[in-house]
Amino acid sequence: MPNTVLIGGQWGDEGKGKIIDVLTEHSDYVVRYQGGNNAGHTVKIGTEQFILHLIPSGILRADKVCIIGNGVVVDPAALLAEIDQLRAKGVRVADNLIVSELAHLIFPYHRALDQLREGGKKSVKIGTTGRGIGPAYIDKVARTGIRIADLLDKPVFEKKLRDNLEEKNEFLQKMYGASSFAFDEIFQAYLCYAEKMRPHCADVGLVLQKAIKAKKNILFEGAQGTLLDIDFGTYPFVTSSSASAGGACVGTGVGPKYIDKVIGVVKAYTTRVGEGPFPTELPSPLGETLREEGAEYGATTGRPRRCGWFDAVVCRHSVMVNGLEALAVTKLDVLDRLPSIKICTAYRLGGKVHERFPANIESLTSCEPLYEELPGWQAVTKNAKHFEDLPENAKRYLHRIEALLDVPVEIVSVGAGREETIFRN
Ligand code: GDP
Ligand code: IMO
Ligand code: MG
Repeated sequence: MPNTVLIGGQWGDEGKGKIIDVLTEHSDYVVRYQGGNNAGHTVKIGTEQFILHLIPSGILRADKVCIIGNGVVVDPAALLAEIDQLRAKGVRVADNLIVSELAHLIFPYHRALDQLREGGKKSVKIGTTGRGIGPAYIDKVARTGIRIADLLDKPVFEKKLRDNLEEKNEFLQKMYGASSFAFDEIFQAYLCYAEKMRPHCADVGLVLQKAIKAKKNILFEGAQGTLLDIDFGTYPFVTSSSASAGGACVGTGVGPKYIDKVIGVVKAYTTRVGEGPFPTELPSPLGETLREEGAEYGATTGRPRRCGWFDAVVCRHSVMVNGLEALAVTKLDVLDRLPSIKICTAYRLGGKVHERFPANIESLTSCEPLYEELPGWQAVTKNAKHFEDLPENAKRYLHRIEALLDVPVEIVSVGAGREETIFRN
């Protein structure tokens, strides 16, 4: 398989973990390049379910090398807990997991700040996962962050942690009246984490450069989704990283010329967790029906996901900003029982029809989605092995998505399991 970036084309939870797991069979390296343990990527193998947060979903295949790139923010406690959980389930995590020394760390004060900001009196709440992601990226960009390379060098770490705590504690007290963090507690805990992480830490750019020279296949595993991207998403209701395909280069140290293909994963409908505009969101009872049929509850926080119809305006935007050349459409089976299905083809705003995604978030909130209605198939799709096996109306639905987005659907997922996947070519 060529070097491929796989991204979420909507607001996350499109089923990236499942598709990554399937594609990993034909890859040598699987690489996370942004986000952190805000992600929840579910992989179902037989009757067993795994939810990956920081570790690439490729870890479930023992002969693959999994990499956490510099663009990821790493909570070491979460990483080590995830390693333990995987090992307890018999998954090998050893020299097959490599973590970039350049990745920034999440500290307890980042989590506290994230939660305090969300819980405060601020008028805009993002509905974050509370994992400290935003505050860690703030420090990275402010050039005050602490990287894994710093953690591995005790005197450097000591100084940087002291400087950070001085500033953070003052801010926490003055801004929120919150209690401060003790230096010793964090210092000692993180030194322990450092020793456990040390064997996994390396110069990821170099590792990947060698892999490219050796003609190995690399699969880049996007987290979140394009509409949560810091630049291209529904700002400010986004995450703090580049969840779009471009993030794969800056988040790993691999130059753009080595990326051969970009695949977008989209659900056959749309979901969103957290706050922010969602033009095709369905009220109950239909929204509720999709949630129950699709088991739409967050893999990380367990929050119910908001559900709505497929939005071609959103996905066209994703096609454009990611340069998508193929789609994987997931959860088609969730629509099996519906008598008719709608697709949003454009928005009406101020008496005008818009086929493109508006930059202004206030406009987006006032957009009226324009729908096309297609007949449902009311048949079970999960046993289909080939595109031709799908009911006529299901094929018609997928053809319509292809036509609206001008991108071929190469993969169709009709269930959470590995075998419930249709490859078109
Ligand atoms: P990710 O964050 O993009 O990896 O997606 P999540 O794992 O958060 O959410 C996707 C959910 O849908 C998981 O529970 C998957 O097991 C499940 N899933 C993935 N593909 C399919 C599919 O084609 N059909 C059904 N019914 N479930 C699927
Ligand atoms: P995966 O990789 C869906 C959402 C949060 C919130 C916003 C910001 O599983 O698709 P953050 O904690 O990142 O600062 O929260 O982004 N969010 C996700 N929604 N799937 C995810 O990841 C998400 N990661 C963050 O709900 O609205
Ligand atoms: Mg998820």
